[in-house]
Amino acid sequence: MRRISLLFGMVAATLSAATLPMDSERGDKLFQSQGCIQCHQLKGKGGIVANDLGRVLDRAYSPADLASTMWNHAPQMWKAIRDRGLKVGDLDPQNSADLFASFYSARYFDVPGDAGRGKFQFSEKNCESCHGISSPVNDKAKPVAKWTTLGDPVSVVGAMWVHSPDMKAELQKRNKTFPTMTPQELTDILVYLRNATPAKNSISSFKITTSARAEQLASQKGCVSCHKDPKVSLSKAAGPLTLTAVAAAMWNHVSMKGIQRSPIEPEEMRELVGYYWAQQFFQGSGTAARGKRVFASKRCVSCHAGGGAGPVLAAKAGTWTGITMVSGLWRHGPTMLSQMEKEHIPWPVFKAGEMDDLIAFMNSAPGK
Ligand code: HEC
Ligand code: HEC
Ligand code: HEC
Ligand code: HEC
Repeated sequence: MRRISLLFGMVAATLSAATLPMDSERGDKLFQSQGCIQCHQLKGKGGIVANDLGRVLDRAYSPADLASTMWNHAPQMWKAIRDRGLKVGDLDPQNSADLFASFYSARYFDVPGDAGRGKFQFSEKNCESCHGISSPVNDKAKPVAKWTTLGDPVSVVGAMWVHSPDMKAELQKRNKTFPTMTPQELTDILVYLRNATPAKNSISSFKITTSARAEQLASQKGCVSCHKDPKVSLSKAAGPLTLTAVAAAMWNHVSMKGIQRSPIEPEEMRELVGYYWAQQFFQGSGTAARGKRVFASKRCVSCHAGGGAGPVLAAKAGTWTGITMVSGLWRHGPTMLSQMEKEHIPWPVFKAGEMDDLIAFMNSAPGK
């Protein structure tokens, strides 16, 4: 009995930590108020002591990636803060989530896109036959310059869902088949469109809300009827889905058999995306068995498994995510570093994927 309630407690804790709402606008403000701006650039503003935190990396970017890059450079960062005698603010999990949203919005695209390929796709998929770039070519469809969705990837998800049936009908009239879209194709199209339209489209924002209503929405809108099938389970998708992948999927649903089309309001879509995307995105794709080896080889085990200088990390099993790791590192890292220096343990650094594995292990309640 005890085991069962422990297990349920764990699942609930994981979900609540995993689905923190996040808002890039709040994050933009924290970037200033918590002092990051003194050394780092973001969206073209800030110091040049250290890396631009919004620069686009050649790979997907998740909270665990933020935790691992920050971890790897933390000793240099604390030295820079000490050397300058700077005051920096606190990062609780909510602040860390909002900052992540802010960095994420600066990158906007999860994977690099190619405007040249996007231009080709925009014409190849017949988008051009209705959407002009700056002037209308069709009286029903706005030219791209007037779109309101381009700055916000979650709005693109919504637009793809709302918009695909009309386009399918329109294409049927012209005896053309509905073009499906891969995540890369959609990314390329969006890169092309953002480059080709006025500067306001390059101001990015990113916000997801979470609420108890999301589960109810998923069932009202018919998502659950298909996605309860484990083969297409959204919480168990392989690896974190990028947002453009979600947007492309929303577009492609229109061709599925038995699809029920309920209109979804933008705020509702934000909640659905918050529920499905953030949940798996935050949980990452690590495995506990690999994480156990990371925990041992990086010598976390010598301080954090009981009897060492640090707290038993397993005591908070179920709450660890890339976000809580960022917050924990920021709050406790300097003390941890001096403890490591005392015990002659070098500061451990992480390779891609290792942070995800470690988090999976820390959540698996080793020793309980
Ligand atoms: C006193 C200067 C200073 C302040 C203030 C500062 N940092 Fe840093 N930060 C650094 C230095 C130095 C590095 C290591 C060199 C580098 O990566 O550019 C670094 C590295 C990082 C990295 C890893 C960057 C990468 O791409 O590899 C992250 C993430 C980061 N800092 C986040 C933050 C956040 C969030 C804040 C505010 C809460 C902050 N920093 C405040 C100096 C600072
Ligand atoms: C048959 C005409 C037609 C075609 C072809 C078409 N669209 Fe649309 N599109 C519309 C109409 C009509 C709307 C809704 C009215 C509006 O916002 O302009 C719309 C709206 C949109 C929006 C929401 C814009 C906003 O912010 O308000 C996006 C995004 C979009 N289309 C993308 C595409 C993409 C990508 C393609 C090609 C794969 C495409 N459309 C092809 C007719 C079309
Ligand atoms: C008619 C059944 C059906 C309904 C209804 C449905 N889906 Fe899907 N959905 C699927 C199938 C099947 C796939 C897998 C497509 C593939 O693998 O190419 C999928 C894929 C997805 C994906 C991409 C998952 C991945 O791993 O690539 C997302 C996100 C998604 N659906 C969200 C939703 C949301 C949100 C709703 C409700 C608004 C919804 N779906 C309604 C059948 C459905
Ligand atoms: C030499 C001992 C030592 C080693 C090795 C060590 N830590 Fe720590 N760690 C500490 C101490 C001490 C604290 C508490 C600092 C404080 O109280 O502010 C801490 C705190 C933490 C926290 C914050 C805990 C919380 O409740 O938020 C995390 C997360 C953490 N460590 C992770 C790790 C990981 C992961 C490793 C291995 C890569 C590691 N530590 C290696 C000593 C160590």
